[in-house]
Amino acid sequence: MIAAPMIAGSVIPAGARSVPFFDYPHLFLSEAQQLTAIFQDVAARGAFIMQEDLARFERRLAAYIGVKHAVGVGNATDGLVIALRAVGVGPGDEVIFSSHTMVATAAAIHFAGATPVPVECGADHLIDPEAVERAVSTRTRAILPTQLNGRMADMRALEAIAARFGLVIVEDAAQALGARFAGKSAGSFGAAAAFSFFPAKTLGCLGDGGAVVTNSDFVHQGVLELHDHGRRADGEIMSWGLNSRLDNLQAAILEFRLASYSAAIDRRRALARIYGERLGRLEQLLLPPGPFDDAEHFDVFQNYEIEADRRDDLRAFLQSHQIGSALPWGGKAVHQWPRLNFQVSLPFTEKLFERVLLLPLNLSLSNDHVHAVCDAIETFYQLG
Ligand SMILES: Cc1ncc(COP(=O)(O)O)c(C=O)c1O
Repeated sequence: MIAAPMIAGSVIPAGARSVPFFDYPHLFLSEAQQLTAIFQDVAARGAFIMQEDLARFERRLAAYIGVKHAVGVGNATDGLVIALRAVGVGPGDEVIFSSHTMVATAAAIHFAGATPVPVECGADHLIDPEAVERAVSTRTRAILPTQLNGRMADMRALEAIAARFGLVIVEDAAQALGARFAGKSAGSFGAAAAFSFFPAKTLGCLGDGGAVVTNSDFVHQGVLELHDHGRRADGEIMSWGLNSRLDNLQAAILEFRLASYSAAIDRRRALARIYGERLGRLEQLLLPPGPFDDAEHFDVFQNYEIEADRRDDLRAFLQSHQIGSALPWGGKAVHQWPRLNFQVSLPFTEKLFERVLLLPLNLSLSNDHVHAVCDAIETFYQLG
């Protein structure tokens, strides 16, 4: 018998007014029977590495995104390294990325042998195409836009810049499975893209996982080799490669979850809509666009990232009411971590990082949880 889900790190039953930022046990407990059955099936077949479950998941993922190829990899960070190398990025090249991203985006550029060039995000928190254009140099080889918080960057503008300067686009789509811009899915714009299946992602497995997708047969072949020791299907070693494969067990779990993924996204969008309706009237906040606000974007709300006056006080107030929140990336944009030695100032992004806050948004939340968060935020600003 499985006990009722408990909130991670506390003894408060889910459904009470306290709201955790994230509830990891829920990821298993909400589907314990099905997940246990998948584990038993895969383990009893001894189907652990590069088996049929993985191949099936890769086909379904590619079809879902609308691309020709998907390859499961160990995580999105590796996926980005592999994608960059497979499209030909390497030593001597510069790759432009928005500093409002996980350090993984920049680390992938570094480990592909290239130089990460951080630029400003815009008011929408996504990479600013004008900043990209200003950063293009004779060494620029690629643009690596992060499809942040489940919303896509202005791919039309980025594609125009890429075409003008002869650059490649590789998408960091770690947070954006199912997001669309102008009718096309995240991952289908660039020469390649990487997705993350980290447990807290909109499609998560029970550990690390990721995928690289591409429409190019050439890039696909490179990704296949690079993620499996540089080996070709016949065993010939073609280059120095990594060992970064998506476990067959995780692929089986992901295949199961992909079947109900659209409903999961609808639920996330419904929760975001409640936040928008409740908090939209507070002048102290700036909210992300609502799920039905613009026809070009379909957002999957990996996160709900707001800007808030007196952000740190608000956060402490929420904490005192047992409501979790988080600072994106631990509170700093990538270029702000001193030990990474970026000698650049990005004033817009730096100012933004004094105001940004992530509110809880995940499938363990009831509507009441979200209303409880909104009640607390309203109270905070009423108290002045
Ligand atoms: C924007 C972004 N890029 C890259 C990553 C790295 O993904 P992974 O943990 O699968 O390596 C993440 C994960 O949080 C992310 O949010």
